[in-house]
Amino acid sequence: MSFLFSRRSKNNRKGDNIVLPEHIGIIMDGNGRWAKKRGLPRSAGHTAGAQNFRTITRYCSDIGIRYLTVYAFSTENWKRPQEEVSALMKLFKQYLEEALSDFKDDSIVVRFIGDTSAFSPELQDLIHRTQKESAHRTGMVLNIAMNYGSRDEIVTAVKSIAAHVKNGEIDIESINADTISSYLYTAGQPDPDLIIRPSGEYRISNFMLWQAAYTEFVILDKLWPDFTTDDLDSAILEFSNRNRRFGGV
Ligand code: FPP
Repeated sequence: MSFLFSRRSKNNRKGDNIVLPEHIGIIMDGNGRWAKKRGLPRSAGHTAGAQNFRTITRYCSDIGIRYLTVYAFSTENWKRPQEEVSALMKLFKQYLEEALSDFKDDSIVVRFIGDTSAFSPELQDLIHRTQKESAHRTGMVLNIAMNYGSRDEIVTAVKSIAAHVKNGEIDIESINADTISSYLYTAGQPDPDLIIRPSGEYRISNFMLWQAAYTEFVILDKLWPDFTTDDLDSAILEFSNRNRRFGGV
């Protein structure tokens, strides 16, 4: 267990002045480089990354994070070599089956954000089953972003709003930022307070563009499979020391 928190410690934190983010986003980057450094195929990096996804998800739930969004597969990731895409699809099936039964003990609500209609029928079935089976739970909400792209998400929202304006369900003058938020995959959820990107890349990579308007970013020079619960604690500590002004003073 890490240094900042003890298990299920929402009201029992060891550190002073810790501000626990309500919603954390993680760009799980660096699997390929992790594998390359070890002379392994990229798929081995993804396997290690998937294992770590499970560890970090459970930890977030343990310390009382309410929402966790992980970026697992982007709308652009289909451009990767067929072999790598197939390995990832296989991994999604295997880890979703395994992790999802694990997450039952933690009462984790599992949701998928992205256009899941592009996946194989088996994977789509697993996705639907998982969402349905976990919907009644009361613990942390885990959003798994798969075939997710924030620009696509916004385009889809704009089209739906336009259709509702056209059929008279929405008055154009009533459209505001909350209207847009309510048409995104994350409708009803708070915006992420903190987005963590391991692997040292200073990019947002089409992840939660709208939702991240006032999000704090923590970038670590560490590859995702090497990212530990201590690293998560450090990111939360750094977040706690930020002065969030949301455009004010
Ligand atoms: C980016 O690293 C990582 C991905 C495109 C895949 C992330 C997927 C997982 C960690 C598996 C998660 C599993 C489930 C069930 C949600 P990269 O390959 O771009 O790394 P590189 O930048 O070093 O090449």
